[in-house]
Amino acid sequence: MPSITRRTFLQATAGLATASLVPQAFAQSAQGLREYRLKAAKSNLRLAPGPFPETPIWAYNGTAPGPAIHATQGKPVRIIVENELDEETSVHWHGLRIPNAMDGVPHITQPPIPPGGRFVYEFTPPDAGTFWYHPHTHSLVQVSRGLYGPFIVEEPDPIRVDRDITWVLADWRLGPNAQIRDNFANPRDFMRAGRIGNTVTVNGLVAGRFVAWANERIRLRLINAAEARIFSLRFMNLKPRVIALDGMPVPPYHPDGGAVLLGPSQRADIILDMTGEPGSRTAVVDGFQPQQPYELIEIVYSYAPPVRDNLLGDLIALYPNPVPEPDLAGAVTHEIRLEGGDLGSLSYALVDGEKKGRAEMLMMNKMWAINGVANMHMPHEPLIRLKRGSTCVLDFRNLTVWPHPMHLHGHTFLVLEHDSRQTVGRLLDTVLIGGGESCKVAFVADNPGTWMFHCHILGHADAGMMATIHVA
Ligand code: C2O
Ligand code: CU
Repeated sequence: MPSITRRTFLQATAGLATASLVPQAFAQSAQGLREYRLKAAKSNLRLAPGPFPETPIWAYNGTAPGPAIHATQGKPVRIIVENELDEETSVHWHGLRIPNAMDGVPHITQPPIPPGGRFVYEFTPPDAGTFWYHPHTHSLVQVSRGLYGPFIVEEPDPIRVDRDITWVLADWRLGPNAQIRDNFANPRDFMRAGRIGNTVTVNGLVAGRFVAWANERIRLRLINAAEARIFSLRFMNLKPRVIALDGMPVPPYHPDGGAVLLGPSQRADIILDMTGEPGSRTAVVDGFQPQQPYELIEIVYSYAPPVRDNLLGDLIALYPNPVPEPDLAGAVTHEIRLEGGDLGSLSYALVDGEKKGRAEMLMMNKMWAINGVANMHMPHEPLIRLKRGSTCVLDFRNLTVWPHPMHLHGHTFLVLEHDSRQTVGRLLDTVLIGGGESCKVAFVADNPGTWMFHCHILGHADAGMMATIHVA
């Protein structure tokens, strides 16, 4: 069998796959309550063309990404999660500001769901926007094997578009026979940029094809579900306008250089006016590694005449979500030092309450620390305790040479200062802090409970870059 490279995939799959919609789950609605069922189980996905076998994956309802869950802002939704894996799991609703008991963090907000067990999540999303779900138990392994899906909260009064489309970006590390390589505990990945794969998919398809109609307007919801890969998406001759980041509306803008940057777990909603000629083609290219740009997906225009003579007008701004405004005058500031990794200067940290040197840490697969503490994914002393209703400023210093997408559960923060200027003034749940950068964010601690605060490069989180913030 030939060995798998990206090129083989691209050649073999070019023109075969047509992307595609995320599968829809069945929602029953009884008295306005939407109900979904998610079953986590083993499945298969065709990631490499024949003669390669299908790739065994873990998936929700048999597919990766799992079904799109649709809720309406301010309306309750119930999701029944069944675990048919051989190990524990739990589901986290990334970016949703919901009660702590529904947050899906094992041992901290709920007991893990045992094999054969189930858990019923029920909550009312306060914010409209693009979110996603994924396990928070053995996340590095479970997400890398295919467990994730979109969570779309619809505006009661949406903007006018022809199509509302979601692209879930994922990254797989495949071995020579198209199986997922199971070297999850690889110190080189832990210490550096995380587990970067060799096969990128959009909605489960490698180098797929997207069919567009001339002059239509698309709302494209981009979700980076990759364990570690950062994307910088270029839309060639199209001019994307960003209307939301991490589910939170922004005044519409053309991103710098036309590229949409997405760190692990981040989302962007963009408006694409499909200005190409009928029958023409273009592509979306990921240029995050400038030496190795590659085509993520091909866009092919139908030969049909344009859907309208002129493009739709400029009414694309979304209504803001009800995120409380930080009181900066009365804020408490906490410095957050991110340390460790390859080429870093971390010489010791507290692991499980004990001071460990670098070599000892390495043996325990711990390479990162937040304020000198490398946590396990288990109950631990909160890094910060906040009074409910108070404003907190997190003053980040990334003392490593690696980027870290830092994520806080249960809250949305406002970026006050950041060396990468593009994020200033944005409301995010994950901020991508480059090596050596500083960044300041503020949020109102209005949601009581113990909330995870971690790097969303899941290998980094596993290797110590994880903490909790307690609000009471
Ligand atoms: Cu996607 Cu702890 O989060
Ligand atoms: Cu990190």
